[in-house]
Amino acid sequence: MQIPDSFILVIFGGSGDLTERKLIPAMHSLYTDHLLPGKFAILGLGRKEFTDEIYRQQMVIENTAIEPQDETAQSFSRHLFYQQLDMSRGEDYENLGKRLKALDEEMQLDGNYLYYLATPPGFFTTVTAQLQEHNLHSEDNSWRRIIIEKPFGHDLKSALALNKHLTDIFAEDQVYRIDHYLGKETVQNILALRFANGIFEPLWNRNFIHHIEITAAENIGVEDRGGYYDNSGAMRDMVQNHLLQIAATVAMEPPSLFEPKPVRDEKAKVLQAIRPIAAHDVPGQVIRGQYIASKIRGETVVSYRDEAKVAPDSQTETFVALKFFIDNWRWGDVPFYIRTGKRLPTRVTEVVAHFKKTPHHLFKSGKNENSSENCLIMRIQPDEGILLKFGMKVPGAGFQIKNVDMDFHYSDLIDDELPEAYERLLLDSLNGDNTLFARADSVELAWAFIDPIIQAWADDPGIKLYGYPAGTWGPRFAPTFRRDAGRLALSL
Ligand code: BG6
Repeated sequence: MQIPDSFILVIFGGSGDLTERKLIPAMHSLYTDHLLPGKFAILGLGRKEFTDEIYRQQMVIENTAIEPQDETAQSFSRHLFYQQLDMSRGEDYENLGKRLKALDEEMQLDGNYLYYLATPPGFFTTVTAQLQEHNLHSEDNSWRRIIIEKPFGHDLKSALALNKHLTDIFAEDQVYRIDHYLGKETVQNILALRFANGIFEPLWNRNFIHHIEITAAENIGVEDRGGYYDNSGAMRDMVQNHLLQIAATVAMEPPSLFEPKPVRDEKAKVLQAIRPIAAHDVPGQVIRGQYIASKIRGETVVSYRDEAKVAPDSQTETFVALKFFIDNWRWGDVPFYIRTGKRLPTRVTEVVAHFKKTPHHLFKSGKNENSSENCLIMRIQPDEGILLKFGMKVPGAGFQIKNVDMDFHYSDLIDDELPEAYERLLLDSLNGDNTLFARADSVELAWAFIDPIIQAWADDPGIKLYGYPAGTWGPRFAPTFRRDAGRLALSL
């Protein structure tokens, strides 16, 4: 495993929730796994007034996401530093430049900086313009990279403007647009399953696959993110990024090399080939829903509109299901279904490839069995693994067929929990590998696909927003989530 050069990770939004819950714990795990160099620093930036000591205490020693609190936690915490910074104040960037130089000297670092924008999106352009203004962006003998959190734009127009702004300041290969789903082991494993095995790829096309389903169900509601979510909705929050990126990973052609350019080229080609959904097809191909109050295991759950910071007459979708096609030789006429929602009965993300039926039925199947239809299920989370369903003869007289499972669980492969997506993505960006980050063109193509759908909803109030009781599988009109039902019960 490659160990990165010495570096300073500079976190804008350094006292925020993402830093505390994800970034610092991920850096701590990399540290305990000996994947960081001997010399590095993490500099948190924020409006709050902290000393380095208080920052270390809050972010590491008292951080419940960091376990165990032993000598490693103590020694890791000594790599953390803090500086107060108002993101729009020029002077504060001058001080930032001085602090970075001082840390470089004090710790004998080589002047490599990874900036992490863990801030609300409204600050992305302010911060990057200030970095340029204070010459903290350009590379000479050392590197400068920048990680941008989602949401990357609000629509195609704003994404184009943001990409233009960023690439006027940084080279494309300095920009890391994070999509944490791409850092999940199981999403990476889709590539391994497809391209490290000889048996799946020959079947991975329109001749053998009937349809593909991608599901990301969450049982949580919008929690304390109502303000953000109400301006976003499931389509922008999950489909534009995570789920279309998964679809591209499932559908892409084999790259010639496992390197950033060939891999990202192939994914972009898929996004380019998605057939646009015209406004008049939206009601037939896309279903949107919003959760309403209900009781889950005896507890009352409020409706989406009663969540904090959500408009009482909100039209924002908390559920979306859509059907689309990828117009190329491999996938011509194979429907892809994406479904995602909040306040569904359980948390599960998975990709299911449904294979075509056998052309002729020789045997009888048991009740509720659909033996001639094979499925390959890639479980992204939880209970990460791969499941292949196929029909077998029931022992005994006759030729009764039953569906059985060939089931692999990641937990059989390693004792530990799977590494967190942020660990992988931070390490890759420190090593200058952006294979698992979204490139500008992919982000724009994904917006170009979903923008007209959102526009159709805005233009035509007649397109229904279905209510669904919290804790159920979405609007009753949505395709069934029951995986054993074989074909989708309802064609969108
Ligand atoms: C985030 C979305 O990007 O992904 C959230 O903004 C969502 O709304 C989350 O809950 C899901 O991530 P995970 O890793 O828990 O599946």
